[in-house]
Amino acid sequence: MAIRVREFCSAAAFALVFAGVLRCAASYDRPPSRGMVSVPRSDGRDSSSPDQASDLWIDVNGFLILVLELLISCFVHQLRLKWLKIKVHISMVGKDKMRISWITEDFSTPAIVNYGTTKGGNYQYSSSGTSNSYEYVLYKSGEIHEVVIGPLLPNTTYHYTCGADITHEDFQFKTPPAQFPIKFAVVGDLGQTEWTNSTLQHISGSNYDVLLLPGDLSYADVYQPLWDSFGRLVEPLASQRPWMVTQGNHEIEKIPIIHTHSFTSYNSRWHMPFEESGSDSNLYYSFEVAGVHVIMLGSYTDFKNGSPQYNWLVSDLAKVDRNITPWLVALIHAPWYSTNTAHQGEEESVGMKEAMEELLYEALVDVVFAGHIHAYERFTRVYKDQANPCGPVYINIGDGGNREGLASEYTTPQPKISAFREASFGHGELEMVNASYARWTWHRNDDDQSVVADSVWLRTLKSVSNCKQLMN
Ligand SMILES: [Fe+2]
Repeated sequence: MAIRVREFCSAAAFALVFAGVLRCAASYDRPPSRGMVSVPRSDGRDSSSPDQASDLWIDVNGFLILVLELLISCFVHQLRLKWLKIKVHISMVGKDKMRISWITEDFSTPAIVNYGTTKGGNYQYSSSGTSNSYEYVLYKSGEIHEVVIGPLLPNTTYHYTCGADITHEDFQFKTPPAQFPIKFAVVGDLGQTEWTNSTLQHISGSNYDVLLLPGDLSYADVYQPLWDSFGRLVEPLASQRPWMVTQGNHEIEKIPIIHTHSFTSYNSRWHMPFEESGSDSNLYYSFEVAGVHVIMLGSYTDFKNGSPQYNWLVSDLAKVDRNITPWLVALIHAPWYSTNTAHQGEEESVGMKEAMEELLYEALVDVVFAGHIHAYERFTRVYKDQANPCGPVYINIGDGGNREGLASEYTTPQPKISAFREASFGHGELEMVNASYARWTWHRNDDDQSVVADSVWLRTLKSVSNCKQLMN
Protein backbone atom coordinates (compact mmCIF):
# COMPACT_ATOMS: atom_id res chain seq x y z
CA MET A 1 0.00 0.00 0.00
CA ALA A 2 2.82 2.34 0.94
CA ILE A 3 4.52 1.77 -2.36
CA ARG A 4 1.29 2.38 -4.28
CA VAL A 5 0.77 5.68 -2.50
CA ARG A 6 4.34 6.63 -3.25
CA GLU A 7 4.06 5.75 -6.93
CA PHE A 8 0.89 7.77 -7.19
CA CYS A 9 2.48 10.76 -5.47
CA SER A 10 5.61 10.47 -7.55
CA ALA A 11 3.66 10.30 -10.77
CA ALA A 12 1.55 13.25 -9.76
CA ALA A 13 4.58 15.29 -8.80
CA PHE A 14 6.41 14.60 -11.99
CA ALA A 15 3.35 15.23 -14.09
CA LEU A 16 3.17 18.66 -12.52
CA VAL A 17 6.84 19.38 -12.86
CA PHE A 18 7.00 18.45 -16.50
CA ALA A 19 3.63 19.71 -17.57
CA GLY A 20 5.09 23.04 -18.57
CA VAL A 21 8.38 21.97 -20.00
CA LEU A 22 7.38 19.73 -22.87
CA ARG A 23 9.08 20.57 -26.09
CA CYS A 24 8.63 19.60 -29.67
CA ALA A 25 10.89 16.66 -30.34
CA ALA A 26 12.50 16.00 -33.68
CA SER A 27 11.95 12.49 -34.91
CA TYR A 28 14.63 9.94 -34.34
CA ASP A 29 14.63 6.37 -35.50
CA ARG A 30 14.84 4.45 -32.28
CA PRO A 31 13.33 1.30 -30.77
CA PRO A 32 9.95 1.57 -28.99
CA SER A 33 9.61 4.02 -26.16
CA ARG A 34 10.96 3.32 -22.70
CA GLY A 35 10.08 4.92 -19.43
CA MET A 36 11.68 5.73 -16.15
CA VAL A 37 12.86 2.68 -14.27
CA SER A 38 11.83 3.86 -10.85
CA VAL A 39 9.29 6.59 -11.43
CA PRO A 40 6.67 6.25 -14.15
CA ARG A 41 6.81 9.03 -16.68
CA SER A 42 3.55 10.90 -16.74
CA ASP A 43 4.50 13.77 -18.92
CA GLY A 44 3.31 12.45 -22.26
CA ARG A 45 6.78 12.26 -23.80
CA ASP A 46 8.07 8.88 -24.67
CA SER A 47 11.65 8.10 -23.80
CA SER A 48 12.67 7.93 -27.43
CA SER A 49 12.17 11.67 -27.65
CA PRO A 50 15.56 12.87 -28.70
CA ASP A 51 15.76 16.45 -27.60
CA GLN A 52 17.85 17.29 -24.59
CA ALA A 53 15.64 19.45 -22.43
CA SER A 54 17.17 22.31 -20.58
CA ASP A 55 18.15 21.72 -17.00
CA LEU A 56 15.34 21.55 -14.49
CA TRP A 57 16.79 24.58 -12.76
CA ILE A 58 16.02 26.62 -15.78
CA ASP A 59 12.81 24.92 -16.79
CA VAL A 60 10.90 24.86 -13.53
CA ASN A 61 7.50 26.17 -14.35
CA GLY A 62 6.84 27.58 -10.99
CA PHE A 63 8.20 27.90 -7.56
CA LEU A 64 4.99 26.46 -6.10
CA ILE A 65 5.35 23.26 -8.07
CA LEU A 66 8.82 22.78 -6.66
CA VAL A 67 7.52 23.29 -3.15
CA LEU A 68 4.69 20.85 -3.82
CA GLU A 69 7.14 18.26 -5.03
CA LEU A 70 9.22 18.65 -1.89
CA LEU A 71 6.17 18.30 0.33
CA ILE A 72 5.15 15.15 -1.49
CA SER A 73 8.63 13.71 -1.15
CA CYS A 74 8.49 14.38 2.57
CA PHE A 75 5.07 12.80 2.90
CA VAL A 76 6.18 9.78 0.95
CA HIS A 77 9.30 9.44 3.02
CA GLN A 78 7.28 9.35 6.20
CA LEU A 79 5.66 6.17 4.94
CA ARG A 80 9.05 4.56 5.64
CA LEU A 81 9.54 2.65 2.45
CA LYS A 82 10.30 -0.97 3.09
CA TRP A 83 12.03 -1.41 -0.25
CA LEU A 84 14.53 1.25 0.63
CA LYS A 85 16.64 -1.34 2.36
CA ILE A 86 20.24 -1.22 1.41
CA LYS A 87 22.16 0.42 -1.42
CA VAL A 88 25.80 -0.41 -1.64
CA HIS A 89 28.48 1.20 -3.73
CA ILE A 90 32.24 1.09 -3.42
CA SER A 91 35.03 3.50 -4.35
CA MET A 92 38.78 3.41 -4.21
CA VAL A 93 40.72 4.95 -1.33
CA GLY A 94 44.44 5.10 -1.98
CA LYS A 95 46.22 2.25 -3.71
CA ASP A 96 44.89 -0.69 -1.72
CA LYS A 97 41.78 0.29 0.17
CA MET A 98 38.10 0.50 -0.66
CA ARG A 99 35.33 2.62 0.82
CA ILE A 100 32.11 0.64 1.27
CA SER A 101 29.06 2.92 1.41
CA TRP A 102 25.52 1.79 2.10
CA ILE A 103 22.25 3.13 3.42
CA THR A 104 19.78 1.60 5.81
CA GLU A 105 16.44 2.70 7.13
CA ASP A 106 17.41 1.25 10.49
CA PHE A 107 19.36 3.88 12.39
CA SER A 108 20.73 1.32 14.85
CA THR A 109 22.68 -0.60 12.21
CA PRO A 110 26.41 -0.35 13.02
CA ALA A 111 28.93 0.75 10.39
CA ILE A 112 30.75 -2.56 10.20
CA VAL A 113 31.94 -4.47 7.17
CA ASN A 114 33.04 -8.08 7.43
CA TYR A 115 35.07 -9.20 4.46
CA GLY A 116 37.49 -11.76 3.13
CA THR A 117 38.44 -13.81 0.12
CA THR A 118 36.20 -16.74 0.98
CA LYS A 119 32.46 -16.87 0.53
CA GLY A 120 29.69 -17.89 2.88
CA GLY A 121 30.13 -15.94 6.09
CA ASN A 122 33.63 -17.12 6.82
CA TYR A 123 35.13 -13.65 6.75
CA GLN A 124 38.74 -13.15 7.81
CA TYR A 125 38.52 -9.39 8.44
CA SER A 126 36.25 -6.80 9.99
CA SER A 127 36.42 -2.99 9.85
CA SER A 128 34.26 -0.28 11.33
CA GLY A 129 33.51 3.22 10.12
CA THR A 130 31.06 6.06 10.50
CA SER A 131 27.34 6.65 10.06
CA ASN A 132 25.57 9.82 9.17
CA SER A 133 22.46 11.22 7.60
CA TYR A 134 21.38 14.48 6.02
CA GLU A 135 18.29 16.61 5.88
CA TYR A 136 16.95 18.28 2.80
CA VAL A 137 14.07 20.63 3.55
CA LEU A 138 11.57 18.20 5.10
CA TYR A 139 13.27 15.06 3.87
CA LYS A 140 15.56 13.06 6.12
CA SER A 141 17.81 10.49 4.54
CA GLY A 142 18.33 6.97 5.79
CA GLU A 143 21.48 6.18 7.73
CA ILE A 144 24.49 6.47 5.43
CA HIS A 145 27.30 4.16 6.50
CA GLU A 146 30.92 4.35 5.34
CA VAL A 147 33.66 1.87 6.10
CA VAL A 148 37.14 1.88 4.58
CA ILE A 149 38.54 -1.62 4.31
CA GLY A 150 42.01 -2.86 3.49
CA PRO A 151 44.83 -3.19 2.71
CA LEU A 152 43.55 -5.34 -0.14
CA LEU A 153 45.34 -7.48 -2.68
CA PRO A 154 45.17 -6.31 -6.30
CA ASN A 155 43.05 -8.12 -8.87
CA THR A 156 41.37 -10.19 -6.15
CA THR A 157 37.74 -11.01 -5.46
CA TYR A 158 36.54 -10.16 -1.96
CA HIS A 159 33.27 -11.16 -0.35
CA TYR A 160 31.71 -8.80 2.15
CA THR A 161 28.63 -8.07 4.15
CA CYS A 162 27.41 -4.75 5.51
CA GLY A 163 26.36 -4.42 9.14
CA ALA A 164 27.17 -6.58 12.15
CA ASP A 165 24.95 -9.47 11.10
CA ILE A 166 27.09 -11.66 8.84
CA THR A 167 23.99 -13.51 7.68
CA HIS A 168 23.04 -10.36 5.73
CA GLU A 169 23.29 -10.41 1.98
CA ASP A 170 26.75 -11.32 0.76
CA PHE A 171 28.27 -8.95 -1.78
CA GLN A 172 31.47 -9.31 -3.70
CA PHE A 173 33.86 -7.03 -5.54
CA LYS A 174 37.07 -7.35 -7.48
CA THR A 175 39.96 -5.02 -6.78
CA PRO A 176 41.65 -3.32 -9.75
CA PRO A 177 44.94 -4.71 -11.04
CA ALA A 178 48.23 -3.26 -9.81
CA GLN A 179 49.68 -3.20 -13.33
CA PHE A 180 48.57 -2.91 -16.94
CA PRO A 181 46.29 -3.84 -18.52
CA ILE A 182 43.43 -2.00 -16.85
CA LYS A 183 40.01 -1.24 -18.26
CA PHE A 184 37.81 1.74 -17.36
CA ALA A 185 34.13 1.98 -18.16
CA VAL A 186 33.20 5.62 -18.79
CA VAL A 187 29.69 7.03 -18.81
CA GLY A 188 28.09 10.33 -17.83
CA ASP A 189 24.58 11.68 -17.31
CA LEU A 190 23.19 8.31 -16.30
CA GLY A 191 19.78 9.02 -14.81
CA GLN A 192 17.44 6.11 -14.27
CA THR A 193 15.43 5.25 -17.33
CA GLU A 194 15.18 2.05 -19.28
CA TRP A 195 17.92 3.47 -21.49
CA THR A 196 20.04 3.68 -18.36
CA ASN A 197 19.23 0.04 -17.76
CA SER A 198 20.49 -0.90 -21.21
CA THR A 199 23.68 1.06 -20.65
CA LEU A 200 24.27 -0.59 -17.27
CA GLN A 201 23.68 -4.04 -18.74
CA HIS A 202 26.25 -3.37 -21.44
CA ILE A 203 28.75 -2.05 -18.93
CA SER A 204 28.24 -5.08 -16.69
CA GLY A 205 29.25 -7.30 -19.58
CA SER A 206 32.43 -5.37 -20.32
CA ASN A 207 34.63 -6.88 -17.61
CA TYR A 208 35.77 -3.42 -16.56
CA ASP A 209 37.92 -2.69 -13.51
CA VAL A 210 36.90 0.86 -12.53
CA LEU A 211 33.95 3.03 -13.61
CA LEU A 212 34.48 6.75 -14.26
CA LEU A 213 31.42 9.00 -14.22
CA PRO A 214 31.84 12.65 -15.29
CA GLY A 215 28.79 13.98 -13.48
CA ASP A 216 24.97 13.93 -13.44
CA LEU A 217 24.15 10.75 -11.59
CA SER A 218 20.59 10.31 -10.37
CA TYR A 219 18.69 13.24 -11.90
CA ALA A 220 16.90 13.45 -8.56
CA ASP A 221 16.68 17.22 -9.09
CA VAL A 222 15.73 17.94 -5.46
CA TYR A 223 13.27 15.03 -5.28
CA GLN A 224 15.37 13.10 -2.76
CA PRO A 225 13.76 9.63 -3.00
CA LEU A 226 15.22 9.45 -6.50
CA TRP A 227 18.69 9.36 -4.96
CA ASP A 228 17.56 6.21 -3.15
CA SER A 229 16.14 4.58 -6.26
CA PHE A 230 19.31 5.49 -8.18
CA GLY A 231 21.38 3.77 -5.49
CA ARG A 232 19.21 0.70 -5.86
CA LEU A 233 19.48 0.80 -9.64
CA VAL A 234 23.28 0.94 -9.78
CA GLU A 235 23.94 -1.34 -6.79
CA PRO A 236 24.43 -4.53 -8.84
CA LEU A 237 27.37 -2.86 -10.58
CA ALA A 238 28.55 -0.33 -8.04
CA SER A 239 28.81 -2.95 -5.28
CA GLN A 240 31.12 -5.06 -7.46
CA ARG A 241 33.55 -2.53 -8.93
CA PRO A 242 34.72 0.88 -7.69
CA TRP A 243 32.69 3.76 -9.06
CA MET A 244 34.67 6.99 -9.18
CA VAL A 245 32.47 10.00 -9.88
CA THR A 246 32.56 13.75 -10.12
CA GLN A 247 29.66 16.13 -9.95
CA GLY A 248 27.44 17.67 -12.61
CA ASN A 249 24.86 20.43 -12.53
CA HIS A 250 22.13 17.98 -11.48
CA GLU A 251 23.99 17.38 -8.25
CA ILE A 252 23.80 21.03 -7.14
CA GLU A 253 20.23 20.87 -5.78
CA LYS A 254 20.30 24.35 -4.35
CA ILE A 255 16.98 26.14 -3.85
CA PRO A 256 16.99 29.84 -3.06
CA ILE A 257 15.82 30.55 0.50
CA ILE A 258 14.57 26.95 1.03
CA HIS A 259 17.85 25.05 0.76
CA THR A 260 20.86 27.28 0.25
CA HIS A 261 23.60 24.63 0.41
CA SER A 262 24.87 22.99 -2.74
CA PHE A 263 25.66 19.31 -3.25
CA THR A 264 24.05 18.21 0.05
CA SER A 265 22.91 14.83 -1.17
CA TYR A 266 25.84 14.21 -3.52
CA ASN A 267 28.45 14.92 -0.88
CA SER A 268 26.62 12.86 1.71
CA ARG A 269 26.11 9.84 -0.50
CA TRP A 270 29.12 9.82 -2.82
CA HIS A 271 32.18 10.44 -0.67
CA MET A 272 35.19 10.32 -2.98
CA PRO A 273 38.84 10.09 -1.76
CA PHE A 274 39.55 13.81 -1.87
CA GLU A 275 41.38 13.88 1.48
CA GLU A 276 43.93 11.37 0.21
CA SER A 277 44.82 13.59 -2.75
CA GLY A 278 45.31 16.75 -0.72
CA SER A 279 42.05 18.32 -1.86
CA ASP A 280 39.86 20.27 0.52
CA SER A 281 36.66 19.39 -1.31
CA ASN A 282 34.75 16.31 -2.37
CA LEU A 283 34.11 18.16 -5.63
CA TYR A 284 37.66 17.69 -6.98
CA TYR A 285 40.26 15.05 -6.29
CA SER A 286 42.60 12.58 -7.94
CA PHE A 287 43.54 8.95 -7.58
CA GLU A 288 45.99 6.52 -9.09
CA VAL A 289 45.46 2.98 -10.23
CA ALA A 290 47.67 0.61 -12.23
CA GLY A 291 49.81 3.24 -13.91
CA VAL A 292 47.01 5.78 -14.47
CA HIS A 293 46.63 9.12 -12.70
CA VAL A 294 43.00 10.25 -12.85
CA ILE A 295 42.02 13.84 -12.08
CA MET A 296 38.38 14.54 -11.24
CA LEU A 297 37.59 18.23 -11.62
CA GLY A 298 34.54 20.15 -10.46
CA SER A 299 32.78 22.19 -13.11
CA TYR A 300 30.36 23.68 -10.58
CA THR A 301 32.75 25.00 -7.98
CA ASP A 302 35.21 27.85 -8.40
CA PHE A 303 37.84 27.08 -11.03
CA LYS A 304 39.40 30.44 -11.72
CA ASN A 305 43.12 31.18 -11.37
CA GLY A 306 43.88 31.44 -7.66
CA SER A 307 40.81 29.50 -6.52
CA PRO A 308 41.28 26.52 -4.17
CA GLN A 309 40.50 24.11 -7.00
CA TYR A 310 42.94 25.80 -9.37
CA ASN A 311 45.70 25.78 -6.76
CA TRP A 312 44.99 22.16 -5.92
CA LEU A 313 45.17 21.20 -9.61
CA VAL A 314 48.55 22.91 -9.97
CA SER A 315 49.94 21.02 -6.98
CA ASP A 316 48.37 17.72 -8.02
CA LEU A 317 49.82 17.93 -11.54
CA ALA A 318 53.23 18.74 -10.04
CA LYS A 319 53.09 15.51 -8.06
CA VAL A 320 52.41 13.28 -11.06
CA ASP A 321 55.33 11.01 -11.85
CA ARG A 322 54.89 9.75 -15.41
CA ASN A 323 57.39 6.98 -14.75
CA ILE A 324 54.93 5.59 -12.20
CA THR A 325 51.72 6.66 -13.93
CA PRO A 326 52.46 6.98 -17.66
CA TRP A 327 48.80 7.75 -18.34
CA LEU A 328 47.14 10.97 -17.25
CA VAL A 329 43.36 11.32 -17.58
CA ALA A 330 41.04 14.14 -16.50
CA LEU A 331 37.26 14.33 -16.09
CA ILE A 332 35.01 17.38 -16.10
CA HIS A 333 31.25 17.72 -16.53
CA ALA A 334 30.66 20.69 -18.83
CA PRO A 335 32.74 20.01 -21.98
CA TRP A 336 35.44 22.38 -23.15
CA TYR A 337 34.98 21.20 -26.72
CA SER A 338 31.64 20.38 -28.31
CA THR A 339 30.03 20.86 -31.71
CA ASN A 340 26.59 19.98 -30.37
CA THR A 341 24.15 22.88 -30.23
CA ALA A 342 23.15 22.03 -26.64
CA HIS A 343 24.72 23.95 -23.74
CA GLN A 344 26.89 26.18 -25.91
CA GLY A 345 28.58 29.14 -24.26
CA GLU A 346 28.05 28.17 -20.63
CA GLU A 347 30.54 29.63 -18.16
CA GLU A 348 31.37 26.19 -16.79
CA SER A 349 32.61 25.25 -20.24
CA VAL A 350 34.06 28.50 -21.55
CA GLY A 351 35.41 29.94 -18.32
CA MET A 352 36.86 26.70 -17.02
CA LYS A 353 38.54 25.99 -20.34
CA GLU A 354 40.03 29.46 -20.33
CA ALA A 355 41.32 28.99 -16.79
CA MET A 356 42.63 25.45 -16.92
CA GLU A 357 43.28 24.28 -20.48
CA GLU A 358 46.89 25.43 -20.43
CA LEU A 359 47.56 23.54 -17.19
CA LEU A 360 46.31 20.27 -18.66
CA TYR A 361 48.15 20.84 -21.94
CA GLU A 362 51.49 21.55 -20.30
CA ALA A 363 51.08 18.50 -18.08
CA LEU A 364 50.50 16.36 -21.19
CA VAL A 365 47.08 15.10 -20.14
CA ASP A 366 46.21 12.26 -22.51
CA VAL A 367 42.42 12.28 -22.44
CA VAL A 368 39.72 14.60 -21.06
CA PHE A 369 36.25 13.11 -20.58
CA ALA A 370 33.16 15.27 -20.18
CA GLY A 371 29.42 14.76 -19.85
CA HIS A 372 26.55 17.28 -19.91
CA ILE A 373 25.84 16.90 -23.62
CA HIS A 374 23.55 13.91 -24.11
CA ALA A 375 25.34 12.55 -27.10
CA TYR A 376 28.75 11.19 -28.04
CA GLU A 377 31.61 13.12 -29.60
CA ARG A 378 35.32 12.45 -29.90
CA PHE A 379 37.83 15.09 -30.88
CA THR A 380 41.34 14.79 -32.23
CA ARG A 381 44.17 16.02 -30.03
CA VAL A 382 43.40 19.68 -29.48
CA TYR A 383 44.81 22.76 -27.82
CA LYS A 384 43.22 26.19 -27.98
CA ASP A 385 40.76 25.13 -30.67
CA GLN A 386 43.45 23.88 -33.02
CA ALA A 387 44.57 20.35 -33.77
CA ASN A 388 47.73 19.80 -31.76
CA PRO A 389 49.64 16.49 -31.49
CA CYS A 390 50.49 17.22 -27.86
CA GLY A 391 47.01 18.21 -26.73
CA PRO A 392 44.52 15.93 -24.96
CA VAL A 393 41.92 13.90 -26.81
CA TYR A 394 38.54 15.34 -25.72
CA ILE A 395 35.66 12.91 -25.46
CA ASN A 396 32.07 13.81 -24.56
CA ILE A 397 30.28 10.82 -23.12
CA GLY A 398 27.14 12.24 -21.49
CA ASP A 399 24.95 9.66 -23.17
CA GLY A 400 24.17 7.33 -20.28
CA GLY A 401 20.42 7.41 -20.80
CA ASN A 402 18.77 10.04 -18.64
CA ARG A 403 15.17 11.23 -18.90
CA GLU A 404 15.95 14.46 -20.73
CA GLY A 405 16.63 12.61 -23.95
CA LEU A 406 19.31 13.07 -26.57
CA ALA A 407 20.99 16.22 -27.79
CA SER A 408 20.53 15.55 -31.47
CA GLU A 409 21.59 18.75 -33.20
CA TYR A 410 25.13 19.57 -34.25
CA THR A 411 26.65 22.61 -35.82
CA THR A 412 27.57 22.29 -39.47
CA PRO A 413 29.88 21.80 -41.16
CA GLN A 414 31.60 19.38 -38.81
CA PRO A 415 35.01 20.89 -38.00
CA LYS A 416 38.09 18.78 -38.62
CA ILE A 417 38.94 18.58 -34.93
CA SER A 418 35.62 16.74 -34.37
CA ALA A 419 36.60 13.21 -35.34
CA PHE A 420 33.31 11.40 -34.59
CA ARG A 421 29.93 12.52 -33.31
CA GLU A 422 26.58 10.82 -32.91
CA ALA A 423 23.48 11.43 -30.83
CA SER A 424 22.87 8.00 -29.33
CA PHE A 425 22.90 6.56 -25.85
CA GLY A 426 25.83 4.39 -24.91
CA HIS A 427 29.03 4.11 -22.90
CA GLY A 428 32.78 4.04 -23.47
CA GLU A 429 35.59 1.72 -22.52
CA LEU A 430 39.21 2.76 -22.15
CA GLU A 431 41.70 -0.05 -21.83
CA MET A 432 45.29 0.82 -21.15
CA VAL A 433 47.01 -2.25 -22.51
CA ASN A 434 50.48 -1.11 -21.47
CA ALA A 435 52.49 1.98 -20.54
CA SER A 436 52.32 3.32 -24.11
CA TYR A 437 49.09 2.25 -25.79
CA ALA A 438 45.39 2.25 -24.98
CA ARG A 439 42.25 1.40 -26.91
CA TRP A 440 39.15 3.54 -26.68
CA THR A 441 35.81 2.14 -27.82
CA TRP A 442 32.39 3.74 -27.79
CA HIS A 443 29.50 1.31 -27.41
CA ARG A 444 26.24 2.59 -28.79
CA ASN A 445 22.94 1.30 -27.38
CA ASP A 446 21.17 0.11 -30.46
CA ASP A 447 18.10 -2.14 -30.21
CA ASP A 448 19.33 -3.29 -26.81
CA GLN A 449 22.58 -4.53 -28.31
CA SER A 450 25.95 -3.07 -27.45
CA VAL A 451 27.52 -2.03 -30.73
CA VAL A 452 31.07 -0.71 -31.07
CA ALA A 453 30.45 2.36 -33.18
CA ASP A 454 33.74 4.20 -32.68
CA SER A 455 37.20 3.04 -31.70
CA VAL A 456 40.69 4.46 -31.74
CA TRP A 457 44.12 3.53 -30.47
CA LEU A 458 45.79 6.12 -28.28
CA ARG A 459 49.45 6.56 -27.46
CA THR A 460 50.35 8.23 -24.21
CA LEU A 461 51.91 11.66 -24.75
CA LYS A 462 54.56 10.74 -22.23
CA SER A 463 56.06 8.41 -24.84
CA VAL A 464 56.03 11.02 -27.64
CA SER A 465 59.44 12.67 -27.57
CA ASN A 466 58.32 15.94 -29.18
CA CYS A 467 55.67 16.38 -26.53
CA LYS A 468 57.89 15.41 -23.62
CA GLN A 469 59.82 18.61 -24.24
CA LEU A 470 56.73 20.52 -23.17
CA MET A 471 57.04 19.10 -19.70
CA ASN A 472 60.65 20.19 -19.30
FE1 LIG B 1 24.72 18.25 -16.95
